[in-house]
Amino acid sequence: MAESKESAKGLHIGFIMDGNGRWAQRRGLPRTAGHTKGAQVFQDMVKYCKQLGVEAVTFYAFSTENWKRPKSEVDAIMRLLKEYLRRAFDYKKEDNRIIILGDKTPLSDEIKKLMAEIEEGTKDNKGMTINVAINYGGREEITHAARALARRVAEGTLDPDQIDEEMLAGELYTAGQKDPDFILRPSGEKRLSNFMLWQSAYAEFIYMDVLWPDFTRKHLDAAIEEYCHRSRRFGGI
Ligand code: FPP
Repeated sequence: MAESKESAKGLHIGFIMDGNGRWAQRRGLPRTAGHTKGAQVFQDMVKYCKQLGVEAVTFYAFSTENWKRPKSEVDAIMRLLKEYLRRAFDYKKEDNRIIILGDKTPLSDEIKKLMAEIEEGTKDNKGMTINVAINYGGREEITHAARALARRVAEGTLDPDQIDEEMLAGELYTAGQKDPDFILRPSGEKRLSNFMLWQSAYAEFIYMDVLWPDFTRKHLDAAIEEYCHRSRRFGGI
């Protein structure tokens, strides 16, 4: 922890919380049990990252593709999200800023209301930023941003030649935030799965052979150490 503490300061870490279903199945439990344990790990990682002085964390909780899962599993994930969003009110005391990334339109009114309250209630906080990606897809996010700029062009308030990368980034759900320094994917899969496509242009990827429900603070320490040994050149030499 002492070493991680120095090296984690100011980082933005992306977490693809993968392997919940396999974790449960290996134990003869319903897949939803894996999500329940995964949500506990999410909460512990938020606490630990805060202790380490991390600047921002982004958790991939529900993708635009996850609606294809059985309704009972989708409902269970939504129930967990509601439960943890309610708990997020405690984060307010810790000065954390909570931002929901994704298209909220198809979510229930109850979740939308909770999200609005939490985002509004924490928007001026200066501590760690906690992004939770819900009904999130990197392609949807870029499409949404392009649509916003196109609307301004159609209204006659924006000249297409003025559009640059910074302007497009300003329309993403992560507007104003630094890009992730590294993206961590446990469970052995080596894919980005539509996560932070724009923002990950120069992110380091760290894949780990542990299922998310088994992910511990020690795994995060190891990931931070691996990240510190990577040489980031951002296209330079
Ligand atoms: C991926 O594992 C995980 C998800 C699609 C859901 C993640 C949701 C949670 C951890 C709970 C709610 C989140 C918060 C922030 C409170 P998988 O089911 O695809 O695993 P598998 O690849 O082993 O099937």
